[in-house]
Amino acid sequence: MLRIAVLPGDGIGKEVIDVGVDVMNALAEVRPDLKLQYEWLDYGADRYLRDGVGFPDDERNAIAERNDAIFLGAVGDPRVPSNEHARQIILETRFGLDLYVNLRPCKLLDARFCPLKDKGPDDVDFTVFRENTEGLYTGVGGIFKKGTADEVAIQSSINTRKGVERIIRAAYEFADKHGKKRVCMSDKSNALRYGHDVWMRVWKLVAAEYPAIESRHLYVDVLAMELVRHPEDFEVIVTSNLFGDIITDLGAALQGGLGMAASANMNPERGIGMFEPVHGSAPDIAGQDKANPIAAVASTALMLQSLGRTADGAVIEQAIALALAENATTPDLGGNLGTRGVRDFLVDAVRRLGA
Ligand code: NAD
Ligand code: IPM
Ligand code: MN
Repeated sequence: MLRIAVLPGDGIGKEVIDVGVDVMNALAEVRPDLKLQYEWLDYGADRYLRDGVGFPDDERNAIAERNDAIFLGAVGDPRVPSNEHARQIILETRFGLDLYVNLRPCKLLDARFCPLKDKGPDDVDFTVFRENTEGLYTGVGGIFKKGTADEVAIQSSINTRKGVERIIRAAYEFADKHGKKRVCMSDKSNALRYGHDVWMRVWKLVAAEYPAIESRHLYVDVLAMELVRHPEDFEVIVTSNLFGDIITDLGAALQGGLGMAASANMNPERGIGMFEPVHGSAPDIAGQDKANPIAAVASTALMLQSLGRTADGAVIEQAIALALAENATTPDLGGNLGTRGVRDFLVDAVRRLGA
């Protein structure tokens, strides 16, 4: 029995999570040994506005204790300009459960969806290892003399030897295990002379342990350029928290947009992981049956694979490929289906492919 905590969140998070769960359930119908049990969670903007509850630490820890994975939609709502509930739900979960690997595959499934000229599925197939517990995201800092002409705002970047080493090592281990020959570490050590000096030094030490893997370093500004010019040069990229956030939206664009990009937040040494589409709550299209659910559905494939159900994840990936081949897609991919129309196609496809 796989126990999955489902947190739809806000906006299109709710719409795409429903599709992800329906697709998993359809697969479970035809594969009786796939047993799924859900715990639905109503954390999000509505709850925060109603009773001030974001995602309390003790509730998160208890949920993580009694489940095998968390399936998250998206959080963020214009009615909560501070983004406080979203910070608690996403960032505090990454920090609190020490999910230090944010694994974000960027894989183009069909050349039609790539904005780059003459690039196809063989050219865009890389995985980003984004550091997920440190960097500029920890909230260390403060504001002095707020609202005055003398205001000072400090946002510190945390880079620990342990934190940097474990994400770089995770990227190399992944490359080693999956037969990837190239790892690129990206930082900004030319400008960030302390925080990213440690990245550079630790990377050299770890890279030396993997002589069979071609190690490369690029400053992140050059990486952004090279990903557009020569995406085929990249197999595994490892980088810091903020750079990973930015680079993976670029990566999402190369694979057909945010509606295609899946992600996993994991701690390889612990059990629980959190799986979520890379996109946000998209208030501009929320509630209109326009959201592309593929990123969320692809995140369920990552989740099942990480829980040892490799073949089940593969069926979901085949169903996605079929939807693309048959143009059973939302308007962002040039199709004319709604979110629910794509759901119906995928549910039917996994039933057939999984039987
Ligand atoms: P966003 O990812 O929500 O949307 C960016 C653009 O991409 C929008 O035009 C949107 O319509 C489009 N888009 C996103 N997902 C799509 C999908 N599945 N199908 C079709 N189009 C899609 O980013 P944003 O607008 O900058 O942020 C909106 C809110 O979401 C903010 O509150 C932000 O903080 C939050 N956010 C949350 C997460 C998360 O929960 N993981 C990630 C990013 C942003
Ligand atoms: C993401 C999101 C989050 C991040 C936001 C919502 C805090 O953009 O998961 O990519 O920056 O990590
Ligand atoms: Mn992001």
